[in-house]
Amino acid sequence: MIKYKSAREIELMRQAGLIVAGAMKLAREMIKPELSTVELDVKMTDYVVKHGGEMAFKGYRGYPANVCVSINEELVHGIPDSRRIKSGDIVSVDVGVRYKNYYADAAFTVGAGEISEKAKRLIEVTQKALDMAIDKVEPGRHLFEISGTIQNFVESQGYSVVRQYVGHGIGTELHEDPQVPNYRISPEEQADVILKPGVVIAIEPMVNEGSWEVETLKNKWTVVTRDRKLCAHFEHSVVVTDSGYDILTKE
Ligand code: MF3
Ligand code: CO
Repeated sequence: MIKYKSAREIELMRQAGLIVAGAMKLAREMIKPELSTVELDVKMTDYVVKHGGEMAFKGYRGYPANVCVSINEELVHGIPDSRRIKSGDIVSVDVGVRYKNYYADAAFTVGAGEISEKAKRLIEVTQKALDMAIDKVEPGRHLFEISGTIQNFVESQGYSVVRQYVGHGIGTELHEDPQVPNYRISPEEQADVILKPGVVIAIEPMVNEGSWEVETLKNKWTVVTRDRKLCAHFEHSVVVTDSGYDILTKE
């Protein structure tokens, strides 16, 4: 069941979103060779708590850290530890914040030091897939158009979209209805929804350089590409407004 948000609820989600945006900005500034992923977790958490937010992922289904930091072939749910980022790595950071009982969630991928041209292109295409999908958000739009935009663009660039993980509604819970797949769904499928003002969705293209298949490592969390090729992830929490959209996780 989709929960439509009131103007007051959107205002609280915007506050949560601004904290997420600030934490992401901090992460972008910090990501450099030699930084350990746990330092990033600690600094982002300090930032969020200082701004009145709570870390949304910690304890979610037993997740053991505050943020997710996933490197190279790691797609999502990388657990921060003492491992250090190296020049040439591409680093995906995913952060969720709860503020006065409302959630916001966003992610980005960035290169550390000098990265290859192919890594740069993968990051650019994934970012563009998110931008194109967000641009489609307006009242009356079918969800399958958002999903289709992502898959069509990503595949036109020679990459693939992950199937096992999808975007989602967000509000008083981190994951609410509807699911927001990054692959085409048919209008008949239950997954289809017509967007209306007050719907808030986290759109999050997960793009693989090679095949779309992923698997989970023995630590039960870290999701990697099956072929161990590179992957990238961008996410914003977006509200449907009367005339279009507003990105809540952007300053
Ligand atoms: N950011 C993820 C999402 O968009 C959630 C992370 S799951 C957690 O759905 F377990 F790591 F918290
Ligand atoms: Co999400």
